[in-house]
Amino acid sequence: IPVDPFDLVIFGSTGDLAQRKILPALFRRYCAGQWPEDVQIIGAARSDLDSDAFRDLVAQSLRTHAPAQFRDSSALNAFLQRVDYVALDALSDEGWGNLAAKLTIDRVRAFYFSVGPRLFGPLAERIKANDLATAQTRIVVEKPFGHDLGSAQTLNATLAAHFSEGQIYRIDHYLGKETVQNLMAVRFGNMLFEPLWNSQYVDHIQITVAESVGIDGREEYYERAGAMRDMVQNHLMQLLCLIAMEPPAKFDPDAVRDEKLKVIRALDPVKPHHIVRGQFEGGPNGLSYRDTVGNPRSTTESYVALRAHVSNWRWAGTPFYLRTGKRLVARSSVINVMFKDAPHSIFGADAGRHANVLSIRLQPNEGITLKVTIKEPGQGGMRLVDVPLDMSFAEALGPENQNPPDAYERLVMDVIRGNQTLFMRGDEVEAAWAWTDPIIAGWQARGDVPKPYESGSTGPGDAELLMKRDGRRWQGIN
Ligand code: BG6
Repeated sequence: IPVDPFDLVIFGSTGDLAQRKILPALFRRYCAGQWPEDVQIIGAARSDLDSDAFRDLVAQSLRTHAPAQFRDSSALNAFLQRVDYVALDALSDEGWGNLAAKLTIDRVRAFYFSVGPRLFGPLAERIKANDLATAQTRIVVEKPFGHDLGSAQTLNATLAAHFSEGQIYRIDHYLGKETVQNLMAVRFGNMLFEPLWNSQYVDHIQITVAESVGIDGREEYYERAGAMRDMVQNHLMQLLCLIAMEPPAKFDPDAVRDEKLKVIRALDPVKPHHIVRGQFEGGPNGLSYRDTVGNPRSTTESYVALRAHVSNWRWAGTPFYLRTGKRLVARSSVINVMFKDAPHSIFGADAGRHANVLSIRLQPNEGITLKVTIKEPGQGGMRLVDVPLDMSFAEALGPENQNPPDAYERLVMDVIRGNQTLFMRGDEVEAAWAWTDPIIAGWQARGDVPKPYESGSTGPGDAELLMKRDGRRWQGIN
């Protein structure tokens, strides 16, 4: 469905995120025919470029980052005609008049802050001071949204001084992933799962976001953040919320976000022996974490595994195990809902114990698998075996779904449509920090040092022990 005409200003438009993600996402939506012709995309940054030089830069990025079938030059040229540029400085008045002159009156006007959080305040102030904000103005901000609760509160207050909450779109790109949205469709669009979705039937839940990449190119940021701030506080927390939340009355921004917030607020503090930190060592495919950041004594974690508890009626007694790390054996994000064993085996002890597992694969090979128990074929008596009921979206929905839209495509279009359902509300972000901060403070107070793990492995051995102590084990990363 085409959206209304809009002006989108991208601050930090020469940066990595804009070039690798935002502009390719806009281009793909353009190719899909989702925009009217008179849209304007205005890059803004400090670099002293003219519009043609900026278009050249965008063209280069699209040739690298847009999917091959969209690199055809007529579509590319048509897209570039919608792209413009102003050189401006967030910290001075320079360039703001030029930006004002380019904006169209009376249409959706979105300002994308693809810059570090220290510029959020100055940008918000200058947008206001130059009278660029209208009733149809939206601003989009990226993580990291703060470094801890205090800094997140300050950022929220800074933005709130200039914009209403309904105008602020805080991106967590995991919410834009197709399968993450599918998680809600599976839970709330089917009768099958919801009655079993509680501690009576679910033994535990595993959320894994494994990455094979390291942190190259982002050493400075990562060394200050670590896996807890970079991944757990936001992406894994959002996945946990969507799995654990109560059904909202409707799929509307505040109804969904109210339910997610209740989950975060119901999280117990994590006990020190329920959390494992790791740091990757060097190996054939790269340097160790410490060598990468050039700090031989770094205690920043590149891996976290933890056991969380949502203390409410639905989930009392069902642990949520979360793990994420860099330089692991494979890139694999998956949520496993591990159901309890059947209470009694009518087939006798020889048949073994079997439990259903619902796996929601976020990436790669997006899809859902339900492991069910059936009879092993043959004459050998009643032996049981587990088989997957497998739904790969690409297979089930046809080849056009081979390449699901990138999260940013969905999210940027939602900004234009004015739909905040897949964006984080200020109180959610703060609640997530309120849960994360004591964990990090505990590490600091105890002088905790992350456990080394081999690059290309599944993480530190202690993460296996975390499960083993509870009589459980992680599902494989692959
Ligand atoms: C980002 C983190 O938010 O998400 C990165 O800062 C991480 O460290 C990335 O690599 C993972 O995103 P995706 O979409 O590749 O799973």
